[in-house]
Amino acid sequence: MYHLSQLYIYPIKSMRGLQLSHAQVTKHGLAFDRLFMLTDFQGNFITARNITNLVCFTPALHSDGLVLQAPDGQYKTILLSQFSQHTFPTEVWGNNFVSFVAPTEINQWLSNYLQQDIQLRWLGEDSHRRVKNYPDIPLSFADGYPYMLINEASLQLLESRCQNTLSVYQFRPNIVVSGFSAFAEDSWKTIRIGNVIFDVIKPCSRCILTTVNPITGKKHPTREPLSILEQFRTNAEKPEDVDFGINLIARNNGIIRCGDRVELIEQQQPNIYINRLGSEKPLSSVNSYKKVTICYQNKMITGNNQQVILEQLEKHGIHVNYACRAGICGHCALKLIKGTARSLKKGNIIQDGNLLTCSCVPLENIELS
Ligand code: FES
Repeated sequence: MYHLSQLYIYPIKSMRGLQLSHAQVTKHGLAFDRLFMLTDFQGNFITARNITNLVCFTPALHSDGLVLQAPDGQYKTILLSQFSQHTFPTEVWGNNFVSFVAPTEINQWLSNYLQQDIQLRWLGEDSHRRVKNYPDIPLSFADGYPYMLINEASLQLLESRCQNTLSVYQFRPNIVVSGFSAFAEDSWKTIRIGNVIFDVIKPCSRCILTTVNPITGKKHPTREPLSILEQFRTNAEKPEDVDFGINLIARNNGIIRCGDRVELIEQQQPNIYINRLGSEKPLSSVNSYKKVTICYQNKMITGNNQQVILEQLEKHGIHVNYACRAGICGHCALKLIKGTARSLKKGNIIQDGNLLTCSCVPLENIELS
C-alpha cells in the first residue's frame, strides 16, 4: 500500500527530467542526476529561476554523454570526451568546487538560444562537492541535497487549493511515494525504500521555480502554487522557508524500483507551519509602461516600471544575491535611497527603507544601495 510510485532524474540541472521505472541509488544521488549544469563564464550557476525556458530543453542519455534538444526541435550531441581536460572554478549557492567545460561549439549554441554567454559544465567522474555538514557525502549539481521526495497525497492536497492543475515536474522530485496521508512526510526521520535506507535531512524550502510551467517555461501570473504554499507551509520558526517535500541522503547504494514498498523506520517531531489560508490575495499590475532609471553601485541603467528590479539589474550584468526570487527569504533586499517602488506581492515587504528586489518594480527613477 505504501509504495514508490515515480522516479525522476534531471541530467542537466533545470532542464526537463527523465522518468524511470527503476534507478541506481548512489551517495551523490540517483545515477545521472544533475551531472550537468549551465554557468556563466565565471562558473556561477544558472538555473530556471533566472532563465525560465531552460525547462523546455530536453536532454536524453547517450552512450558517451547526452543528446540535447532545444525547444525548436534542433539538437546537439554532447560527448563527455569533448569536455575540457582541466577543471574550472564553479559555484552553486556559495559552494565553490570545480567542473569541466563543454566545447565552444556547444556553449555557443546554447548562448545563442538563451541570449547570454553560457557554458555547459560537467561534474566529472568524481564530485568534489560535498553536502553541507556531511563531509563524507558527495553532491552533484543539485541545490543542496542528493535526493528530494514528494508525497503524492500532499501534491493532491496542494492542487485542490490551486486554481490550476499542477505537474509534479514543477517540484522536480527524484522520488514520489503513494499511499500515505497528506504531509505524513513531515514527521519522517528514516525510511526504507526497497533495500535502501534514507535519512530525512530537512524539509525542502521552495522558490519561484515551482511557479514555472514545465511545458511553456512561463511563470504563473499569480505565482501559484508558491502563493498557496505560503499560506499554509510557511515554517513558523524560519518564516523565510516555505516547505514542500523532503530532502534525503542515502545510507547505502542499491537499486530502487517503482512499486517498491516504502517503510517508515523512525519518526521525529514535525515542524510547525503558519496557517493563513485565504488571507493573502495576489496584487494586480496596473501601471502602463514607462521607462525609468535604476542607480546601483555607481551604475545607472535604463529600465522600466513593469519588470522586477532584480531581473532588470541582472539583465545589465549587475549581480544581486538571491535565493527564492519570490519575496520570501529576504536575500535580495537593497536599500531604497531615492524614488518609490511597488511590491508585486501583498505583505509588508518594503520596510525600513529596504525593498526586496525580486518582488518590487520601480514606479519612477530610483537609487539603491
Ligand atoms: S530572493 Fe528571496 S526575497 Fe528576494
